[in-house]
Amino acid sequence: MEADLERILIPRDRIAKRVKELGQEIAWTYEDDEDDGITIVTILSGAFIFVSDLIRQLPFRMKIGLITVSSYRGATTQAGGARISQDLNVQVAGRHVLLVDDILDTGGTLRLVRERLADAGAKSIRVCVLLRKPSKAPSDLNVEFVGFDIEDKFVVGYGLDYDDHYRNLPDIGILRPELYASSH
Ligand code: IMP
Ligand code: MG
Repeated sequence: MEADLERILIPRDRIAKRVKELGQEIAWTYEDDEDDGITIVTILSGAFIFVSDLIRQLPFRMKIGLITVSSYRGATTQAGGARISQDLNVQVAGRHVLLVDDILDTGGTLRLVRERLADAGAKSIRVCVLLRKPSKAPSDLNVEFVGFDIEDKFVVGYGLDYDDHYRNLPDIGILRPELYASSH
């Protein structure tokens, strides 16, 4: 697997340190909201490793919800339209929702899920992403918590995939461009 990387972008110890810091920022933000009920909504599949580390840094009562979004990306690295392929499995009406995703790229995924949560009656919606590509992310898409801003390269590892591979890499790395199925 490692041989398929151009280089490691964010090693596991830096990820762990940042996840801990994000946990503190999030805990401060929700300090007074615990009684109203907090739900962490995870966008599958990419965010499953990040969220499992993140929630263990959060010392408050919470429910966990899951939603699966497909990006028609398949075996290419080009973004397509996003669609909900498995709907939210919990009720969020009247609850504070923290939406967690692996990466903010074009923003299509987050826009879609945020709309779904608003329709479902969430009391508040905040967003946490591990990675953001600022060169591509729309400036009107507000995200409250960001782990790392990165350059516009295709990255894998720590839950992020290429054609469903590499999710189990403990570090985040840049995939060698010659491995892309599409021209890039
Ligand atoms: P967006 O809808 O364009 O913001 O894309 C978000 C989704 O595309 C993420 O949840 C990822 O699953 C996927 N994605 C975007 N960029 C990358 C990348 O560099 N590596 C792996 N997956 C990515
Ligand atoms: Mg993906």
